[in-house]
Amino acid sequence: MSATAIQVGGLKLDNGLWLAPLAGVTLPPLREFFTLLGAGLTHTEMVSCMGLIRDNRKTEGMLRLLPGEGPVILQLFAGDADTLTQGAQVALAMNARLNKLNELNARFAALGINMACPMPKVTKRGAGVALMGTKTASVMVRGLKPLGLPVWVKTRKMPDDSETLEFLEELLEAGADNICIHGRTAAQRYEGRADRSIVASAAARFPGKISASGDVYGVADVEEYLSMGCVGVMLARGALANPCLFPLALRALGCRVSEDLTNPTLEQRIQRLRDFGVRAEEVCGPRTALVLLKRLTSGMFKGVSGVSELRRRIGPASSLEEFFETLREEEARMPGKIMENSP
Ligand SMILES: Cc1cc2nc3c(=O)[nH]c(=O)nc-3n(C[C@H](O)[C@H](O)[C@H](O)COP(=O)(O)O)c2cc1C
Repeated sequence: MSATAIQVGGLKLDNGLWLAPLAGVTLPPLREFFTLLGAGLTHTEMVSCMGLIRDNRKTEGMLRLLPGEGPVILQLFAGDADTLTQGAQVALAMNARLNKLNELNARFAALGINMACPMPKVTKRGAGVALMGTKTASVMVRGLKPLGLPVWVKTRKMPDDSETLEFLEELLEAGADNICIHGRTAAQRYEGRADRSIVASAAARFPGKISASGDVYGVADVEEYLSMGCVGVMLARGALANPCLFPLALRALGCRVSEDLTNPTLEQRIQRLRDFGVRAEEVCGPRTALVLLKRLTSGMFKGVSGVSELRRRIGPASSLEEFFETLREEEARMPGKIMENSP
């Protein structure tokens, strides 16, 4: 896949199409999968700085990077600046240790601060959206800057547009290298339409610094955000609903992308899913691999007619063996033809 590299948020990236952070989903094999489809950047799951400081083993597992991954943002959350900085320091030290253990040289591209999560288990600690509009938010950015990596923030629209712009300005003055705005308020969580006008206002006011998230389901959504002046667009539920959206959008943006990626045959889709399952099992174990496979299955067959039976049968699979067996049976039943993919 050829693309023109871009310089954004202190990073050199292949393109401005990125995989958004998705808790429980953006695990290493899934990030690797989307890197192969062309994602210019991906995120870790949300990592608790308190967990890092307490040397929580589960948290350490969230820091793993695979050699086939592209640039990854380490997404951190904390309710105060000291915890955030300490947690980030622990994470970077763990990353170096894991690299040594695995004879790897895979480092995080940037540190990301989550100021977007509306879930009570996060906000009750003063983290996520609870940071929006607070002084602590810019103190956090300042605290991370000396660690030497670019600092990215992901946040949301606030109920008042001028307050939102003021907040973004404070973060940028504190040294944030990029801010992604999700055009839904905290109260909206993931429902209703994402407001694009606040994203457009921010991109116009802070050129080169704003990226976008919210309702990215087709090539036109990507083009619209980029035409507003956003430096990047994060694909979230749209990437799961149709992973081919990455190569399709990249092609629309003028990159050379192989037909195998934009419009795979049924056999290629099945093979990609199978390869992903094998890789996910190797990295995360069978239970997590099954969960991730199920998240991808529907999207992998988007636009393919005659697969409703496959979807119906594969949904209840309770083990990887059962999943793969059903896939084999359905493959034998279905005609292998090239499908039209038109998101
Ligand atoms: C299952 C799920 C998990 C998410 N996890 C995170 C997260 O860890 N951090 C974050 O900033 N946003 C998270 N988000 C928000 C997405 O990154 C994105 O901003 C949001 O889904 C809006 O984009 P969309 O309308 O295109 O899906 C999550 C969303 C979903 C659906």
